[in-house]
Amino acid sequence: MDKIIVLDFGSQYSHLICRRLREFNIFCELVPFDINVDKIRELNPKGIIFSGGPASVYSKDSPKPDNKIFELGIPILGICYGHQLIVDHFKGKIKRVENREYGNALLNITSKQNLFKNIQADSLKCWMSHSDAAEVLPEGFEVLGKTSSSFSAAIGNKNNNIFGLQFHPEVAHTEQGNKVLFNFANVISRAKQEWNITDLTQDIITNIKDLVHNEKVLCAVSGGIDSTTCAILIHRAIKSNLTCVFVDNGLLRANERESVIKMFEEELKIPLNVIDASDKFLNALEKITDPEIKRKKVGEVFARVFTEFAESNGPFQWLAQGTLYPDVIESGVSGGPATIIKTHHNVGGLPDWLNLKVLEPLRLLYKDEVRSIAKILNVPDHILKRHPFPGPGLAVRILGEITAEKISIVRKASAIVEEILLEENLYNKVWQAFAIVGDDKAVGILGDERIVGHVVYLRVVESVDAMTADWVRLPYHVLEKISSRITNEINNVTWVTYTISSKPPATIEPL
Ligand code: XMP
Repeated sequence: MDKIIVLDFGSQYSHLICRRLREFNIFCELVPFDINVDKIRELNPKGIIFSGGPASVYSKDSPKPDNKIFELGIPILGICYGHQLIVDHFKGKIKRVENREYGNALLNITSKQNLFKNIQADSLKCWMSHSDAAEVLPEGFEVLGKTSSSFSAAIGNKNNNIFGLQFHPEVAHTEQGNKVLFNFANVISRAKQEWNITDLTQDIITNIKDLVHNEKVLCAVSGGIDSTTCAILIHRAIKSNLTCVFVDNGLLRANERESVIKMFEEELKIPLNVIDASDKFLNALEKITDPEIKRKKVGEVFARVFTEFAESNGPFQWLAQGTLYPDVIESGVSGGPATIIKTHHNVGGLPDWLNLKVLEPLRLLYKDEVRSIAKILNVPDHILKRHPFPGPGLAVRILGEITAEKISIVRKASAIVEEILLEENLYNKVWQAFAIVGDDKAVGILGDERIVGHVVYLRVVESVDAMTADWVRLPYHVLEKISSRITNEINNVTWVTYTISSKPPATIEPL
């Protein structure tokens, strides 16, 4: 299949480039910025995109690609920092602009070919975020578009098909930016639109069959869309050679265990092994307050419980995981400058001596692509629409020590939030909605008595892919209903507050 690769120089938008191209059915993959040319030859991309990034090309340790990349004869598009890399490589000049250009600018298109082919407008609103700009263009390059403060906002060398954009075509604020990316991928690089979810679903099943043969696969399921889709794909491929395990870690949502059992056994007809390991998890988490240690502990106990199961029910040759593309990248596995934002416990895991090979059928997919596959596989609607839930469960929604009381508060309060959003027809319009509890206490009045109870925080966010998120402007009557039910129905909760920080700078989960 034809593909485009994006070298990740650390921009928060690198993923968006991939997503935009996949929306045009062109396969696109994110790779580390320092990938060597032999590996690129192996990947055989039709075109290469350099993402933006926070560095300046002139600073000492700025990330640079393998120089031989410019000699491969493959079309290249540099975005923002990537644009400056190109100018620098071909001996143009970059200068630091006095006022950092940030936000909307108007791009006047001066050439309607290649990058701007079939774009009707003469000017486009575009989104800039940079402190450096080209001062002198390298030989062979011409200006394709300019803004009032950047004479070289779009440049290109048609002889070797190397282009640069000072603005970000991948963000929604850039008008027709997706068309510009499409033009690079399809018109200039000639990548065909071959990425198709229905074919892909069948390809994944066939690949699993070819890879696994008659070996046995162990799959951890959580009831979430990723692991459920992963299990169905594998089950379609190898039937009873798949063993699914659901671990109750004592940190699940209300009624979660029962509904997962029902879905697997009654709706999907896939046998499910259920392990109740709540005590083990809660013991390991006792007195721990540090968020990263909480995650690590959950991961360790998970691995231990799993190892025990694998030993006594095996031998298994494979471990299946519903790891998604953003998990792979966010955990720094891409090797790019993307930092480890949080340790996602589902990447990596079990001890080496189990000799399990890892099967990750969803490794190259984004969440919405997994949803499309799940739909094709007839995953029940209530799962397709259920909000995502983190692997470490309620542990990342309890600030400070994890106690039975705090688990119960956060579980009941989250169930109330979900129920009310469903009643108000808002559940499917938001990305996630849940409660958080910590050690903050505030005074309340119960009957005639003053009591000191917990403060519960609400978190309701909208998002497309969890990379960025905004808090939902819930109507006051909904907030009021949630607050009143939580304080009336849950013992020892006196106050409810609403969190109004977007991501970035906050994250969706509090820990
Ligand atoms: P953050 O909090 O990083 O969350 O903005 C982004 C999305 O990822 C989920 N999340 C996790 N999922 N293990 C998971 O499987 C984790 O440790 C974890 N932490 C966050 C979160 O619910 C949100 O959808």
